[in-house]
Amino acid sequence: MLRWGILGTARINRRVIPALRLARRSDVAAVASRTRARAEAYAREWSIPRAVVGYQTLLDDSSIHAVYIPLPNTLHVEWTLAAIAAGKHVLCEKPLAFDAADVDRIAQAASAAKVIVEEGFMYRHEPLTARVLSLLGDGAIGAIRAVVSGFTFALEPSHNIRLDPQLGGGSLWDVGGYPVTYTQLIMGHEPKMVFGSAHWHASGVDEEFMGMLRFDEGATANIFAGFRTPYRTWLEVLGSEGGLTVPNPFRPGPIETLELERRSTIERIEVTGSPEIFVREIEDFEAAVLDRAPQVVTLAESRRTAATLAALHGAAREAGRVSP
Ligand SMILES: NC(=O)c1ccc[n+]([C@@H]2O[C@H](COP(=O)([O-])OP(=O)(O)OC[C@H]3O[C@@H](n4cnc5c(N)ncnc54)[C@H](OP(=O)(O)O)[C@@H]3O)[C@@H](O)[C@H]2O)c1
Repeated sequence: MLRWGILGTARINRRVIPALRLARRSDVAAVASRTRARAEAYAREWSIPRAVVGYQTLLDDSSIHAVYIPLPNTLHVEWTLAAIAAGKHVLCEKPLAFDAADVDRIAQAASAAKVIVEEGFMYRHEPLTARVLSLLGDGAIGAIRAVVSGFTFALEPSHNIRLDPQLGGGSLWDVGGYPVTYTQLIMGHEPKMVFGSAHWHASGVDEEFMGMLRFDEGATANIFAGFRTPYRTWLEVLGSEGGLTVPNPFRPGPIETLELERRSTIERIEVTGSPEIFVREIEDFEAAVLDRAPQVVTLAESRRTAATLAALHGAAREAGRVSP
């Protein structure tokens, strides 16, 4: 069994704690918060055996094997490194880091400490993703020419870490990683060149982001992330011989239907997914730690993700403007 500690009382825990409990070889042992009142109230609310004051105190507990890090984005590298130093395996929320150099530091530390560190991209563990990749890999739509993908949701106007530049806010860093990782997964590598454009919020973060990625083999991708429109996710792949439409690519339901279009005919392919999302992510993590199974999201992939996201962000900041 993996005995887990959770750093912080984040909202996303509401999805992950039930998954940790459903997973076969995990046990939620402790939650840490910056304040005692919050730690104790949260542990009571979620029936977590131990409430801990301060994240380091939890890391110092030798009975904890693994930690889940759902902290604001700018704290991911710092607390992942602290957890590694304490000998813990780490499942860290996306984005793991804001640049490739920090992923390298994490990879070196994890390798020296012989612990697993994985960035949380739940969709990567779902059968729908595996089916999409196998169809494309088998040439179902011919050579891949373009990927069009995005993730938007309407951000609540109340205080939110996503609007705070000091906490690594912005739509690209929050949900842009989904279309970017999926695109790189389909293409098998990072782009040669990126372009980006954003609508900037008064706080300084991007509240809507459009990016374009160009790949060596002549393929392009369009990625979209945003806080200004209701929840919507999409992924379409265009090939030399057809197209593939993927419903709910980043949060698949228990049954999804892919649409594969070739020579003007549409084939509908039903894919059975998980009854509860996040459980496979946890069980794959258990397998990586307890059985030494290969990680699904490797640090090499996280390095590519961070590098591309950083390049897109930089491109939007620096873009020259040409008026029509
Ligand atoms: N995989 C997914 O589907 C998914 C979905 C949503 C979010 N996420 C990721 O999960 C992370 C958390 O997102 P969230 O929306 O759940 O966050 P949230 O509700 O705002 O919670 C963040 C937690 O971090 C702790 N914290 C430490 N320093 C803080 C500071 N200076 N300001 C605010 N909070 C601070 C707080 O815990 P204490 O006060 O208890 O210490 C707080 O509860 C982000 O990295 C996000 O990208 C992933």
